Amino acid sequence: MSNPTDEKVLVAVASKHGSTFEIAQALAAAIREGGFKVDLRELQKDEEVDDLDCYRAVILGSAIYAGNWLPEAKIFVEQHRVALSEMPLWFFSCGPLGEDEVKPKHNPAELKTGAGDLPILDHQIFLGKLDPSSLTFGERLVVKMVKAPSGDFREWEKVREWGRAIAGKLRSGLVEA
Ligand SMILES: Cc1cc2nc3c(=O)[nH]c(=O)nc-3n(C[C@H](O)[C@H](O)[C@H](O)COP(=O)(O)O)c2cc1C
Repeated sequence: MSNPTDEKVLVAVASKHGSTFEIAQALAAAIREGGFKVDLRELQKDEEVDDLDCYRAVILGSAIYAGNWLPEAKIFVEQHRVALSEMPLWFFSCGPLGEDEVKPKHNPAELKTGAGDLPILDHQIFLGKLDPSSLTFGERLVVKMVKAPSGDFREWEKVREWGRAIAGKLRSGLVEA
């Protein structure tokens, strides 16, 4: 790590079964290694996050369910739309499953995040994890119906690399509030 800074970055994440939260943890660690203080916050539906004035940038992520971000991530976008429009903002989503044949295929621009015309610097989609034993009965039916592959497909090196790249961009001043 070089030139540590007092600037803080927020990594906020909505996760139902924990796999997206673990991706957020890895991102937070990579951005910390890049010299920033990082608050990692798991979003709850009924929680109002304080205002974002103290942050230099926000990285916001959610698990994908039926092509949608989780409600708590969309609520966060809505509550902080003005602040988010004025600061460096990155999105990540976690969901697609599989090794040779990854599905479903999502275009980040078409995912239902609620972002509208917010200026997002990048939106990465990371592969996810499916553990049938942790699912509800209804979820198990859905994954059986669509023949979703079980397993942990998360790409840790890609996640860390993306986190490092964000820290690098912030440090270089290439992205400004
Ligand atoms: C009922 C159900 C629906 C899902 N729908 C999608 C989907 O539309 N697109 C996608 O990429 N992944 C989908 N997934 C996969 C999840 O996004 C993936 O398992 C992810 O890792 C879950 O994140 P979490 O553990 O943080 O909740 C779905 C999973 C379940 C159980």
